[in-house]
Amino acid sequence: MTITRRRLMTLAATVSFGVALAGAGLPQSAAHAAEDTVKIGLILPITGPFASTGAEELAGVRQYMADHGDTSAGKKIELIVKDDTGSPNETKRIAQELVTSGGADVLMGFGLTPLAFATAPIATQAKVPMVVTAAATSSITEKSPYIVRTSFATPQGAYVIGEWAAKNGINSVVTLVSDYAPGIEEQDWFIKAFEKGGGKVVEKLTVPLKNPDFAPFLQRVADNKPEAVFVFVPAGVGAQFMKQFRERGLDQSGIRLIGTGDIVDDQILNDIGDVALGIVTARDYTAAHDSEMNRKFVKDFEAANDGMRPNFMAVGGYDGMALVYHALEKTGGDTDGDRLIEAMKGMSWESPRGPISIDPETRDIVQNIYINKVERKDGQLYSVTMDTVKDVKDPAKAGK
Ligand code: PHB
Repeated sequence: MTITRRRLMTLAATVSFGVALAGAGLPQSAAHAAEDTVKIGLILPITGPFASTGAEELAGVRQYMADHGDTSAGKKIELIVKDDTGSPNETKRIAQELVTSGGADVLMGFGLTPLAFATAPIATQAKVPMVVTAAATSSITEKSPYIVRTSFATPQGAYVIGEWAAKNGINSVVTLVSDYAPGIEEQDWFIKAFEKGGGKVVEKLTVPLKNPDFAPFLQRVADNKPEAVFVFVPAGVGAQFMKQFRERGLDQSGIRLIGTGDIVDDQILNDIGDVALGIVTARDYTAAHDSEMNRKFVKDFEAANDGMRPNFMAVGGYDGMALVYHALEKTGGDTDGDRLIEAMKGMSWESPRGPISIDPETRDIVQNIYINKVERKDGQLYSVTMDTVKDVKDPAKAGK
């Protein structure tokens, strides 16, 4: 007979009321562990083409535990870290294992949209909260009532930069995005805002997600001679894109580069080099964010991770842990999935990226979106904030 998580909890409660476990077939220590420990199954692409996201997320989660200790509401927080290599079948298989024999109370991570999509049914069946700390396609939060997101929704940045471009003298754009759900969504929400503001999109280009060769697409951009190119590639891939952008002379073409923050994410920005100077993007986090909390976060994070700079994925992980810690405080340590999700709805707190909250209706994050420009500061490249759009709700869920 398999012992379900709920049965384990019941057994644990029985023990705490002093009733012997004789005959239950469960060692007493395991029952106590279930009572005193909250297990978080953190599933990330730690190896493979999206390993940079795994590294940032894991470091963000660990930074939260370094800052706040490994207990919440008197419970010990146990992290179970698993590598899905970026394969949806793996993410799903690992999640299934974690909520059954692994005894996970919370699932966390999900480095790419397909990985979150694949796992949503597991969260629903097991009634276990699934905290999405990276994947960003708008509809992810609709795939299970147990999903809560602490990263961002792609339309948040795409819409804001679309509005900005139209208002700041850009009239014609070619869009170039990775060909999967968040890329198409970025493209569509950028266009929606940009065209509303009077801009014109002259061509839409989609590039394969796996092993992309940007050269033929950059040639199309050059041939079109738009005033700007709007680019989305997932975190970590921007360096590869920017190398080809420079090699093909696009940086000298007078075509401006705009996008969401993914293209110049903080982990790779210094490696991209001066070709990134002047790129304008919209995103919920920049390592240059001007707050005391963020300055401490960046300093501690870099010290703990051999100089790696935190990017928006790192704060997604950091805040995923903040959400679980705060929710446990609210439930008094109760790990029942429905109670935890209820506790998470409407929660608001201060993050290294600024004030954030969880929309109680959609379980998605509401946050400031910063319009940033790449500049050299203290000898390093940073996305420096020029303007802030406050408390942005996912436009796809706000009827835009
Ligand atoms: C996603 O797959 O949802 C995703 C991944 C990386 C990003 C943005 C979106 O930078």
